[in-house]
Amino acid sequence: MSSGNPVIELRSVDKSFGPIDVLHEISLKVGEGEVLCLLGDNGAGKSTLIKTLAGVHQPTRGEILMDGQPTTFSGPRDAQARGIATVHQFGGTYPLMSVGRNFFMGVEPTRNVGPFKVFDREKANRIAVEEVQKMGITRITDGDRLVGGLSGGERQSLAIARAVHFGARVLILDEPTAALGVKQAAHVLRIVNEAKRRGLAVIFITHQVMHAMAVGDHFAVLIRGAIAADFRKGDKTREEIADLMAGGESMADLEANIEGYMETHDGHPPQPAA
Ligand SMILES: Nc1ncnc2c1ncn2[C@@H]1O[C@H](COP(=O)(O)OP(=O)(O)O)[C@@H](O)[C@H]1O
Ligand SMILES: [Mg+2]
Repeated sequence: MSSGNPVIELRSVDKSFGPIDVLHEISLKVGEGEVLCLLGDNGAGKSTLIKTLAGVHQPTRGEILMDGQPTTFSGPRDAQARGIATVHQFGGTYPLMSVGRNFFMGVEPTRNVGPFKVFDREKANRIAVEEVQKMGITRITDGDRLVGGLSGGERQSLAIARAVHFGARVLILDEPTAALGVKQAAHVLRIVNEAKRRGLAVIFITHQVMHAMAVGDHFAVLIRGAIAADFRKGDKTREEIADLMAGGESMADLEANIEGYMETHDGHPPQPAA
């Protein structure tokens, strides 16, 4: 549950790219140990919103607060240094490198060999494996394993464990389960719950209502760049959430329309517009 003290907050944020207004009056907050699910159709502005939080974009209007203090991020590195971690669909990992290398990318532990400092592979591997195991990923036991040989879910989990280890306070996950099968997705959802248990503020973006319901405390639905609904766990049913995500149209009506079409078209579903 939210501790009442938001770690990160957006107040009336607008974002435009030249004449194109993408985000309108976005106000949201996420507390410690809370998962905010950001839902919305393609093009709704989800990625733009999290890029604004992660220092990639600056808000055109409005403000971002961290621990209640208005702040600006000069760029993604600045946001990262202040505890905002973003994990993308493919985990942001390097497939041709080992688990240990990936875990410490950019901050490799070293040891002295004569006058030289060399990458301390054993130490990196030991810590990386310990940390992923602590997050409940018991199938990764060898730090020398190449990340390319891990499953999609394991890669995501590695990226999340890495963010937690390096002290992230806000974990942003952009469609982490979109390309995963059921088991792998369940795995990632478990890690999200673990990050939450450790007190991170999590922003979880998904199209999949069931995934959102499995981890979310708080839900916000974006439609054409504005917050169309903002509610807490238990306030709405799965059907109501799915309808909101479809832009307010009832999914049951959409399904009935498709069935009606198929009946008059030899069982063929309507083709999407090119
Ligand atoms: N750099 C940009 N310049 C102009 N328009 C952009 C830019 N980035 C995103 N957009 C537009 O903003 C809208 C929302 O995009 P996006 O945030 O990627 O949506 P989502 O992640 O919800 O699918 C889209 O119409 C997209 O074309
Ligand atoms: Mg997106």
